[in-house]
Amino acid sequence: MSILRPSETEQYVRLRPRAQAAFERAQKVMPQGIAQEMRLLRPFPIMVARAKGARKWDVDGHDYIDYHLGSAALILGHAHPEVMARIREQIEYGWHYAQGHPLEAEWGEWVQRLVPSVERLRFVNSGTEATLLALRLARAYTGKPKVLRFEGHYHGWHDYAIKGMSAPFDRPPTAGIPDGAVGTMVVVPANDPDLVARTLDADPEIGQVIVEASGASWSTVPLRPGFLHALREITKARGRLLIFDEVITGFRWSSGGAQVKHGVRPDLTTMSKIASGGLPGGVVGGSAEVMSILELTGDAQRDRARRPYHGGTFNANPLAASAAVATLRICSTGDVQRHCDALAARLREGLNAIIKRLGISGVAYGESSTFHVYVGPRPAGMPVGERLWTEDAATLKGVSRELVFAVRGAMYNRGVDLMSGIGGVLCSEHTPGDIEQTLDAFESAFKAVRDERPDLLPA
Ligand SMILES: Cc1ncc(COP(=O)(O)O)c(C=O)c1O
Repeated sequence: MSILRPSETEQYVRLRPRAQAAFERAQKVMPQGIAQEMRLLRPFPIMVARAKGARKWDVDGHDYIDYHLGSAALILGHAHPEVMARIREQIEYGWHYAQGHPLEAEWGEWVQRLVPSVERLRFVNSGTEATLLALRLARAYTGKPKVLRFEGHYHGWHDYAIKGMSAPFDRPPTAGIPDGAVGTMVVVPANDPDLVARTLDADPEIGQVIVEASGASWSTVPLRPGFLHALREITKARGRLLIFDEVITGFRWSSGGAQVKHGVRPDLTTMSKIASGGLPGGVVGGSAEVMSILELTGDAQRDRARRPYHGGTFNANPLAASAAVATLRICSTGDVQRHCDALAARLREGLNAIIKRLGISGVAYGESSTFHVYVGPRPAGMPVGERLWTEDAATLKGVSRELVFAVRGAMYNRGVDLMSGIGGVLCSEHTPGDIEQTLDAFESAFKAVRDERPDLLPA
């Protein structure tokens, strides 16, 4: 009689009875048992009990090296002492006023100081709200209804942002989006400046261009060097506005985000996550000229056709403001970003060595403090573990869910929590030892997945 090793999924389930029970309870409350779609994991997600630094612990007592970090919101890791001290100090004075308070200007001044294109700003409550407001301000300023955006770029989940986020890019990936909203979004592949210029020239109703400054989904689909500069020139020459979505790249790609790193000055910028200290919040900022659309005077102020409205009960919430001020101060020197970038580079290098050793048809890549693993068929003669062989957004964002769930499950079994796809982000609290431990986990997880499902990790 042969004794079969329990599968990775069996181990996952056996080790997490409390998470399974919590998930069953959650399913009676929330459709699919999750608070939003990206948290889906088969057979069920882990349930987090607490988190500190670069680690989190689940309700079943397992600990994980965290590369998810609140969907990339926590560049200082969980419960950073200085951020916590500011939040504690503030909470004694109340946590919500829905009125002006001195911390909102202090928060805004940090953003102005670090991101020079942001001369004026407004606060919102999430990245989705940030792009919603930015598009509204841009339309109000240009008087043009349409927006050019790029295949696979993620700008949140509101009705205008969602078309183009995943293939097929010419229609929304969800029900419930009115045709009117769909019609305002023009989607083209990134990395082709001539196509952008031709599209703008052909359609005078396009007044604004929005781009994820990292390339789609935090560099899952990288931008070619110079593309952001080309966008700046093309939009400027044609009197269109350029919006950088820096919800992830803001204060991560550099202390001033991707725009400072690449030396490109957009008209408007959207930020959240790190920008709000890892608490719910966000920022829309830009040139004083464009932002002045919010302070029209006289008759124009009362002219609803010209003046954009901006609301939000929780905007500039004092707890988020406290966390943001502490976070941006620590991030202002660039040391945190340099630490994270160096460790991410080490992780990508180690991953590529593993991919080569195991002969998997894949490559590890990524920008700044991120890493991604792409697995897929490659052109004849292309070596594995060296460089990405496609820039097609549908291919790079279309890695099978089966593979992602298998690798993420196997990584959980080895004490590592990844973000979406097969990838993640680094924080100031990760150590070289964490990277070595993570690489060991990857090698063992890839082997285990390949033993069980050779089709998922082909040579
Ligand atoms: C580039 C980008 N824009 C917008 C968003 C939406 O942000 P939120 O999830 O806070 O609504 C995200 C979320 O990850 C993002 O990565």
